[in-house]
Amino acid sequence: MELKIALLPGDGIGPEVTEQAVKCLHAVEEAFNHHFVFTEAHAGAIAIDHTGDPLPEATLQVCKESKVVLFGAIGDPKYDNDPSAKVRPEQGLLKLRKELGLFTNIRPLKVYPSLVDRSPLRPEKVAGCDFTIYRELTGGIYFGKKTLSDDGTVASDLCEYSEKEIGRIAHMAFKAAKARNKKLTLIDKANVLETSRLWRKVVTRIGESYPEVALDFLFVDNAAMQMILNPKQFDVILTENMFGDIISDEASVIGGSIGLLASASVGDGHAMFEPIHGSFPEGAGKNIANPIASILSASMLLDHVGLAEEAATVRAAVDKAIEKNVVTPDLNPDGNYGTDQVGDFIAHSIVDIHEHISFNDE
Ligand code: IPM
Ligand code: MN
Repeated sequence: MELKIALLPGDGIGPEVTEQAVKCLHAVEEAFNHHFVFTEAHAGAIAIDHTGDPLPEATLQVCKESKVVLFGAIGDPKYDNDPSAKVRPEQGLLKLRKELGLFTNIRPLKVYPSLVDRSPLRPEKVAGCDFTIYRELTGGIYFGKKTLSDDGTVASDLCEYSEKEIGRIAHMAFKAAKARNKKLTLIDKANVLETSRLWRKVVTRIGESYPEVALDFLFVDNAAMQMILNPKQFDVILTENMFGDIISDEASVIGGSIGLLASASVGDGHAMFEPIHGSFPEGAGKNIANPIASILSASMLLDHVGLAEEAATVRAAVDKAIEKNVVTPDLNPDGNYGTDQVGDFIAHSIVDIHEHISFNDE
């Protein structure tokens, strides 16, 4: 298969981890005889440094002309604590999601058996935990009208949702639940917010078309607590943009490291794949960042374009690295594997695993 991939490494550790994912995609090309064409472009703080714009037109163009986007991370401390900053790296990511119509953000969480002891929760609470968050990504308070009074003392952010916006992601989440353990939990704040009541109404109605899926509801405050008390109760979580942002960071630590969590952002046309971790500027350039989230994002990319066997091989290679403890210091502080060694190990394993399977097939 020939596939055009836009590459947006971004800021901080973004370039280092993306490099490992690309290494693994090259291994897939070699093992399975595909041809991937990568086009790299700037986004985030690095794009601001070059052009003044966190999402330059040229970058958007590259993304629109590619079938899929592999994204690293964006964000730079020099913008974080300056409330008066007019341009911010994050605006680039938000604009990209909106322009590409990526309304569904999928964040799977799986606890690896050999890592249960690295979880901040007790091993018996997390062993076998496996759920997926469907976060709405192009609506809600992130994209509503923002105001600041002339004297700078009153500010507002509007949270708005339409039936259409809720319905399209609800179908995606129900389909996912149907293919998994047939449970869907809608997280909202319907005791307070009008938008949440609309979510409940629309999701309940759509649920009638998926009778095999059990639908339940949790208020977001309770959900935050349940995530710690009993994370194994979840199968597919569906939620709006802001709650999904918060809940997914909370969920990410259950498996022992945020450096393991990948995500896919999909719409009707384009799709983008990125680790859920941020740019971790303190870790940049030190060869300590965990590349697994980025590599697993590449495996979600492969699944998305129909290369299921290739995606499974990448996941198997990641499993092998974790089992053999070939992991970065976030997972093994006493180990001596850096970002690129972990990337090399996984890339080689992809080729090995594939050869082994093909050999057994003959
Ligand atoms: C995420 C990030 C982004 C978000 C930021 C960087 C804008 O936290 O992808 O979860 O809030 O959506
Ligand atoms: Mn976030």
